[in-house]
Amino acid sequence: MAEIILNAQSVHKHFGGLVALKGVDFQVARGEVVALLGDNGAGKSTLIKCISGVYRPEGGQITFNGHEITGHSPSSIRDAGIETIYQDLALAENLDVGANVFLGKEKKRKVLGFIRVTDDEYMRQEASKVLDRLDIHIPSLKQRLVNLSGGQRQAVAIARAIYWNAKLVIMDEPTAALGVPEQRKVLALVRSLRDQGIPVILISHTMTDVLEVADRCVVMRRGRVAANLPQGQFDAEILVKHIVGAGELSA
Ligand SMILES: Nc1ncnc2c1ncn2[C@@H]1O[C@H](COP(=O)(O)OP(=O)(O)OP(=O)(O)O)[C@@H](O)[C@H]1O
Ligand SMILES: [Mg+2]
Repeated sequence: MAEIILNAQSVHKHFGGLVALKGVDFQVARGEVVALLGDNGAGKSTLIKCISGVYRPEGGQITFNGHEITGHSPSSIRDAGIETIYQDLALAENLDVGANVFLGKEKKRKVLGFIRVTDDEYMRQEASKVLDRLDIHIPSLKQRLVNLSGGQRQAVAIARAIYWNAKLVIMDEPTAALGVPEQRKVLALVRSLRDQGIPVILISHTMTDVLEVADRCVVMRRGRVAANLPQGQFDAEILVKHIVGAGELSA
């Protein structure tokens, strides 16, 4: 395996009496797309939120590029280069594309020598460069996010991740609410990230998406890792067996 950049070991997380993660080991190597699968409630989103800093695990250790990030704040984990994109995207509906790429880190310019205003033109130009690099076409970058489709918004979120030099991109069910052409676009973006050496963790219930882009599949079941399958060792049937736990019954 290539150099491991994310290493989560023995991660435990509970919500009151409910144990959501029971000693989860999970790694990501440079430039690979790892699909994270599992039935509803298996613990996928909880694991992602422990990695992105939304939750603080009660046990275990998470390192990124060799640095401990366990329990760090979401903003410091973003600064370290881990960008998490959720279906309910954390974008600003009423701002345009450029402003969303710069959200929270707006570029300012001075007018009349002392009044600082946001430099919308600069932000749109920079946004347009990243979008081009990713081969994403949005008719007008002056469009406010409310007027964009789900896939276009997803693309803006990905563009933002790239612009700020994400070193790992996590997507929690990015294609769930999208039409077919937009799903294709998001999958193409996942590949484009990998081709630029940026690893992706993709959570998806859509088997065809997983089979199309994953270099490795990790299946979770009831808070544990049930299977960790490199390319060549998984197909739809094998994955479904691990997801429902049929392998354990016959073993
Ligand atoms: N904030 C929370 N408070 C209490 N329980 C939670 C919380 N978040 C998750 N859980 C519980 O933890 C378990 C794992 O949930 P999680 O959201 O990680 O599942 P998932 O694998 O992402 O499922 P899905 O495919 O449905 O998104 C579930 O039993 C869930 O009910
Ligand atoms: Mg989830």
